[in-house]
Amino acid sequence: MILYFSATGNCAFAAKRIAEKIGDEAVSLLPKFRENDHTALRSEKPWVVVAPVYVAEMPRLVRDWLRATPLTGSRDIFFVFTCASEMSCSGYFARQLAEEKGMVYHGSASVKMPTNYPIFFTVKEDYECRRLVEEAIPVIDKAAEIISLNGVIPEKKPSKAILGCTIPVNDLYYKYFVKAKDFYATDACIGCGKCTTVCPCVNVRLENGRPVWGENCTHCMACLSSCPKEAIEYRGKTEGKRRYHFPKPERGVQSKTMHEETERSGHMKVVLAGAFGHLGADILRELVARGYEVVATGRTIRRPKDCEGGYDAVAADMQDPASLRGLCEGADVVISTVGLTKASAEVSCYDVDYQGNMNLLEEARRAGVKQFAYVSVLKADGNPSVPMLDAKAKFEEKLKTSGLGWVIFRPSGYFYDIAKVFMPMIEKGKVTLLGDKAVHCNVVDTPDFAAFIVEHMNDKGKLYNVGGKETWSYEELARMFFAAAGKEPKISRAPVWLFDVLAWVNKKKKNGKEAIIRFSKWTLTEEMVGDTVVGDASFAEYIKNCYKK
Ligand SMILES: Cc1cc2nc3c(=O)[nH]c(=O)nc-3n(C[C@H](O)[C@H](O)[C@H](O)COP(=O)(O)O)c2cc1C
Ligand code: SF4
Ligand code: SF4
Repeated sequence: MILYFSATGNCAFAAKRIAEKIGDEAVSLLPKFRENDHTALRSEKPWVVVAPVYVAEMPRLVRDWLRATPLTGSRDIFFVFTCASEMSCSGYFARQLAEEKGMVYHGSASVKMPTNYPIFFTVKEDYECRRLVEEAIPVIDKAAEIISLNGVIPEKKPSKAILGCTIPVNDLYYKYFVKAKDFYATDACIGCGKCTTVCPCVNVRLENGRPVWGENCTHCMACLSSCPKEAIEYRGKTEGKRRYHFPKPERGVQSKTMHEETERSGHMKVVLAGAFGHLGADILRELVARGYEVVATGRTIRRPKDCEGGYDAVAADMQDPASLRGLCEGADVVISTVGLTKASAEVSCYDVDYQGNMNLLEEARRAGVKQFAYVSVLKADGNPSVPMLDAKAKFEEKLKTSGLGWVIFRPSGYFYDIAKVFMPMIEKGKVTLLGDKAVHCNVVDTPDFAAFIVEHMNDKGKLYNVGGKETWSYEELARMFFAAAGKEPKISRAPVWLFDVLAWVNKKKKNGKEAIIRFSKWTLTEEMVGDTVVGDASFAEYIKNCYKK
């Protein structure tokens, strides 16, 4: 497992590149720092720590986190330090730390990259930064090769004289210089809040729409360098000076070479809205596994299993445009799975599916995002009297004319959704289907669909009607569920008008169930077969597995 901390992108780039080369996962430590999370991690593959150099050593927050967090499984550990000149004593102290943890130290790589510290150094011009990044690539790749062979990275040991002065200088530096009191925001600040989300020490908060700094700073430069408006200054030190971030926080300013490189390494930023639902979590896993930089957002943060790190999680309410401010800064693509999935008396699908996505689209446009991928539903434009379809169809139309690149995915339905509908009926011993007509569906498994979405999220002006490889009638499905549960099939059919009555009754009750009933009626009486067949998962097998202990 590759653990990395990156304030301004260099280490993120190196870590993701190594992950891609050696086929391992890169996990950002930012959320762990922010949440003071020291839960033990496990990896059977060697550990790789990628961190910047701060005052000739590993950053203290990385060192302290490693000390306090059990790393189980493999006992092998490598370090990769990105730095502006050299890693200096970082390897020396990394060896000590590895030994303290009873691990086998496999050396440290020193990767020279652009400086990110405008308070004391001059950030080089773009073309020079580019050259430095390009020169760093073979060094990163060499380290990756040694890691993949479980070898030892050769390193230059610091002299006794360097070591002798580093320790006191580092101490004095942290004690007297590492302070946040001189940070301030200029009038260019738009109150987007980006600076509050990138701080590993949770040291920046917004007050009256402006950032305010606390006392727990490590001078990482994430806040100053991530501001899309370059509105953050460090009094007397940074005014009029260049900042560094890789890639640049604003869109459209990367050079072609840099952009090509970031694309090649998968270093593309994706904002995923609706990230913590069933499909959202699968898309999130897919994006993280493929090495994208991801901002995962939803109303409440619920980190999915098997995807603990490697992305930023931001709580945001799609219905509240203020909570979306800054969410899409620097993003290349926005993916939205946002839609109402439960009955609600408070909000309608027009509030969520339509207005929520409109708010997100507006924020994406404001941030200069070029591409928006939307997960809708099959035949969304098929019946305007079904609010859950109509709200989606209306948003689709707005998206198509928004001026952003767009791709729309219309799934037929999901394995787990059908199982959720059928299993309680099987439990009760009787399945009731709607109407006399045999209708069919080819639902898709969400991991397959998630992979398809990620592969096609950059397609321009495309609409995919997505389904799985097997098409079954609802009656066939009911029989398969009964067989898997080891029960005699008992299937009855209710008249279609019954759902109209139910919808009417619930409309009167104003309990929010009317929209769900109308949508269920629609899906149970319409052919739901997508012509873009995705994935190899068998729904028949899935049903059998639902009843395996
Ligand atoms: C507080 C601070 C101290 C730094 N000290 C050193 C140093 O002693 N030697 C060095 O070569 N680079 C130093 N740097 C530069 C960073 O290590 C370098 O730019 C690194 O690649 C940044 O990584 P990141 O973009 O992943 O945050 C320092 C940067 C900061 C912010
Ligand atoms: S990132 Fe910049 S613009 Fe956004 S709130 Fe912070 S200082 Fe203001
Ligand atoms: S407040 Fe300090 S620690 Fe937080 S992002 Fe800014 S420089 Fe880094």
